[in-house]
Amino acid sequence: MKVTVVGAGAVGATSADNIARMGICRRLVLLDIKEGLAEGKAQDMMQTATLLGFDTKITGVTGDYSKTADSDVVVITSGLPRKPGMTREELITVNAGIVKNVAENILKHSPNAILIIVSNPMDTMTYLALKATGLPKNRVIGMGGTLDSSRFKYQLSRRLRCSPLDLNGVVIGGHGDTTMIPLIRHAAWNSVPVTDFLSQEQQDEIVKDTMVGGATLTGLLGTSAWYAPGAAVAVLVASILRDEKKLRSCSVLLEGEYGQRDICLGVPVVIGKTGWEKIIDLKLSEEEQETFNKSADFVRSMNDVLKTI
Ligand code: 2OP
Repeated sequence: MKVTVVGAGAVGATSADNIARMGICRRLVLLDIKEGLAEGKAQDMMQTATLLGFDTKITGVTGDYSKTADSDVVVITSGLPRKPGMTREELITVNAGIVKNVAENILKHSPNAILIIVSNPMDTMTYLALKATGLPKNRVIGMGGTLDSSRFKYQLSRRLRCSPLDLNGVVIGGHGDTTMIPLIRHAAWNSVPVTDFLSQEQQDEIVKDTMVGGATLTGLLGTSAWYAPGAAVAVLVASILRDEKKLRSCSVLLEGEYGQRDICLGVPVVIGKTGWEKIIDLKLSEEEQETFNKSADFVRSMNDVLKTI
């Protein structure tokens, strides 16, 4: 199995590092346009192989897409990360050109690849990658909801003072500070609804802190986060390569599901060897559906910006 990660910045490199440590593919290519960056990070990672006990061969390349040939999965992290005070949406014009170019170059050499999109604004970049490449919808997956759901469980575990591993929780909608929807009514602590343990005020706080999870880190770090995004990428890659059929929230093309069409938005999907294999239909309350529709309206307005570029 072969995986390519495009973009050797913090998110791309951490994704590659996690994928290598998990031992899920034999060959891993890290590609960047900045001379020497991918080569340097790949060599540094390879020098951890005997310490950590993995035998994935990691190769770094500067802009040479021929080295990515025959990849089974390609992760696209390229583009500008956000700076403190910036929304993910402000990156749209610059990142659209980059993502389109990368996706087209990748497919010239790996026509059968499954694409995982990380670049922001993630739902719009996923939609763009799908439209620009004409790939079957199941082969284009936006990573955001997987990351946001993990952040949601982190916030729940802090308030409940429990192990995050005992929690179930899903974030749907857009991967944006105002568009994501942490579904607290559906979250459970080993099958018991978390709402049994939390006041309305605590629930509202958890939802709010989850929604600004990325922005909080950008404020602290001066750039966007990388450990959790890199881990979210790696679990998706693992679920594809091992055909695990994991249920994850991802941004995928909706064609009537959840009352929306012609838009990529976060919903629970089963991830296996053919990409996202099916959408799981959650029973939303009227209020949740309304919030989902508003999230879709916002993401659609971002997608409309693509037409003007
Ligand atoms: C984040 O939320 C990278 O968008 C990503 O941290």
